Amino acid sequence: MNLKKVVFPVAGLGSRFLPVTKAIPKEMLPIIDKPLIQYAVEEAIEAGFDELIFITGNTKKAITEHFDDKPNLNISNLTEDKKNFLAEMYRIIPDHVSCKYIIQEEPLGLGHAILQAKEAVDGSPFAVVLADDLIDSKKGVLKQMLDQYNDEDSSIVSVQKINKAESVNYGIIDFKKGSADLIEIENIIEKPLPENAPSNFGVVGRYIFCNSIFSLLEKISAGVGNEIQLTDAIKLLLNTKPVFGYEFTGTRFDCGSKLGMIKANIRFAFKNVTYKDELKKFLQKCIKNE
Ligand code: G1P
Repeated sequence: MNLKKVVFPVAGLGSRFLPVTKAIPKEMLPIIDKPLIQYAVEEAIEAGFDELIFITGNTKKAITEHFDDKPNLNISNLTEDKKNFLAEMYRIIPDHVSCKYIIQEEPLGLGHAILQAKEAVDGSPFAVVLADDLIDSKKGVLKQMLDQYNDEDSSIVSVQKINKAESVNYGIIDFKKGSADLIEIENIIEKPLPENAPSNFGVVGRYIFCNSIFSLLEKISAGVGNEIQLTDAIKLLLNTKPVFGYEFTGTRFDCGSKLGMIKANIRFAFKNVTYKDELKKFLQKCIKNE
């Protein structure tokens, strides 16, 4: 299957995290010791993707630098050991994987960001990962989706059950429930009010698209929030090609929100034996002094 390219839209303004995002892109905010975007990139590489396409904003140099594997380590007082350690830490992208950076001049929405990748994707199907949806799972969600994928003409969006009261934060799908792992989507609405939400299945930031999505992204005009919405292009895609929902296995952290970031940091710290016991004691103490 010719599915090797993955697009990371990372040009958002990160306004919910101001002032920290004045100088640091939101995707560079850390969960323990790795930025969000690195978790997303590692998930993609593990799934076998080898062409990474980043859609960055004008001020997102930090992301390019983060993945640069040729840092200047000609510092005279570094020991060889320290140099080797640093070189290893700096090398995030394996040699067989390429990175391309494309600037989105204006933040006109997620759909507009994806459209900037059209030339780089060059006619093939591709995946999209939203780094602020961090998912803790045994098998990466992109890999889970690839295991379901067998038709280059179809598309898959990952979904999870949400609390309907929170439908205004998600694309919500309407679907025909079958017994298979893939749910056939019949309609999709971006951020509906709870009373208009057709189901309690919300879209989470992992997608596999057939290439036709680009011509539809070119057609649509601004939607919810006055932004070019990916969801609106998916809705048009449904008229001509099958689009499936896939309910992934794993815990998703909405790292586009501060609470989500805090929870993700706690979860990932708990997974680390170095911090686990001490952190547990500390949290118990916090709860007692509430
Ligand atoms: C975007 C999509 C939305 C999706 C969500 C998942 O919204 O537009 O359909 O459910 O990501 O995180 P955003 O969170 O960028 O507002």
